[in-house]
Amino acid sequence: MPENILIAVAWPYANAEIHVGNLTGSHLPGDIAARYHRLKGDKVLMITGTDSHGTPVTMSADKLGKPVEEVYKIYHEGFIDLFQKIGITYDLYTTTHSENHFKVSQSIFLALQKNGFLFTKVEPQWFSPGLNRFLPDRYVEGTCYICGTEGARSDQCDACGNVLDPTKLVNPRSKVEGDNSSPELRDTEHFYIDLSKLEPDVKKYLQDRSDHLRETVLGESLRKIEAEGLKPRAITRDLDWGIPVPVAGWDGKCLYVWFEAVIGYLSAPIEWSQVTGQAEAWREWWTNPAAKQFHFIGKDNIFFHTSLWPAELMGVGSAFMEIFAGEEIPLILPYDVPANQFMNLEGKKISGSRNWAVWGRDVLTRFDPDAVRYYLTINMPEAKDSDWDWAEFVARNNNELVATWGNLANRVLSFCYKHWEGHVPNVDPATLREADLALLATIENGFQAVGAELEAVRLRSALGETMKLATAVNQYLDVQAPWSAVKTDKDAAAKTVYTALKAIDSLKVLFAPFLPFTSQRLHEFFGYETPLFGEQYTEVVKDALGEHKVLRYKPVDGSYWHPSDLKPGQSLNQPTPLFKKLEPSVAEEERARLGK
Ligand code: MF3
Ligand code: ZN
Repeated sequence: MPENILIAVAWPYANAEIHVGNLTGSHLPGDIAARYHRLKGDKVLMITGTDSHGTPVTMSADKLGKPVEEVYKIYHEGFIDLFQKIGITYDLYTTTHSENHFKVSQSIFLALQKNGFLFTKVEPQWFSPGLNRFLPDRYVEGTCYICGTEGARSDQCDACGNVLDPTKLVNPRSKVEGDNSSPELRDTEHFYIDLSKLEPDVKKYLQDRSDHLRETVLGESLRKIEAEGLKPRAITRDLDWGIPVPVAGWDGKCLYVWFEAVIGYLSAPIEWSQVTGQAEAWREWWTNPAAKQFHFIGKDNIFFHTSLWPAELMGVGSAFMEIFAGEEIPLILPYDVPANQFMNLEGKKISGSRNWAVWGRDVLTRFDPDAVRYYLTINMPEAKDSDWDWAEFVARNNNELVATWGNLANRVLSFCYKHWEGHVPNVDPATLREADLALLATIENGFQAVGAELEAVRLRSALGETMKLATAVNQYLDVQAPWSAVKTDKDAAAKTVYTALKAIDSLKVLFAPFLPFTSQRLHEFFGYETPLFGEQYTEVVKDALGEHKVLRYKPVDGSYWHPSDLKPGQSLNQPTPLFKKLEPSVAEEERARLGK
């Protein structure tokens, strides 16, 4: 039975380019999962978009001296370009700055209000007398009162990962005015979500998923609740860029960026339904209790996805649908949150401001997307932080991707193309020998074994298993040696080549979620005409806020997640090498580029 799978990826802030750490943290694992489920024939909806509001974005606009609307669009369009180049196949990649997202977010707010989970309170907040404005979140920095690190932002400390109470920051300074500023606390009124009322529900929600949530995710989430409990949180801010609070008399205040950005997981499927002209289709992933939702995020986002977002959904109950569509229907809750740890670069934390980073769009000007995807997957920080090391990138590319997999495919296809006039040898499958059948059985088991790893979002292991199967084919060829047999016993060589081709044709599918570009090329060398995957394209959506570019994906029918049914005699296309070997000097050249 095909399942409805929602692949929801963290919304990147429009304040910096995307680097390899962001890719391996969330977008790439999300894409691998989406492609796997599509190959299996599941009904996949993969969504996210640009997180366009909040102080990270307004501050980057301040720094560039440009209007925030212009700045968010520059990053947004750059992200879309990157996702097309590296093949992150969002069914819809949109933005939080859309009329639809405003409306859905405001409806969630009103539903929480209706159900009694919101209250207002006057509290002191940092204020700049010089600028005559409040300084929310990142506008104030100081010393973290939990870990003592200098340069912590008032709402969140990157060093210890804690979400902070801004008023407790030690030695606060305004980011706009600099070191000598002295922001003062002034009273301001805000809406709060009473998470304490939802604490038992959130705890139960997490415990109910303890059989499949990663230990890093479950442990951290429950420990945090045990230690601090869930406390009320302000969900509005004194800012004018963002989503207006849908209550009369609240002009000049907006919804807090985290409160509304997570709502994108609901608003993006709704927008996707609208742009595809099937207005109610989103319900298959949102009101269907059998649907499974996966959240691909980095470890710094865990609290927001395992506590805040489920709490918002539980607080809303069926009131969102009542307000939004006039029917009382509950929304479902996320199934899994496979958060990743961080990827460092050459042993040091990636830092955009110090240019200690490998940027997505830049690295793709020198390396093929599948080479980058391979290294990012085999090194994915699933259980602990990992490291992008240029010498290792070159070594793994050459020893694994090129030597084990690429050469295998190329060697067998070229040999066959030459000796059997561009056709799969005409072998009667009933005459295959024991060794041939044993190899095919091993590969066939791979669909189960690799599939189970992919279902559980253990992507490194899934890719490692697949590479081991490629090694098994190489070992089989070493023993059968068709290259010499072809001269003495062409019949035996034909059986070997037929068997190896069938194995490679299967491996093509197993590798496809990870290496979609080269798997598709290989698929064409085999002579198949219907593609493995659909196409990405962009579109412009117009609404009351203006227009925004979106990235879309046109899926293809059919399911491929099964062993090859290659036909004896099938005609092939002339193969060319799938991957490029890299010179060892590449590592030195790339290191020399860093930190410039
Ligand atoms: N913009 C946040 C970040 O880059 C992630 C937001 S995820 C969302 O860390 F769910 F809130 F949208
Ligand atoms: Zn800290």
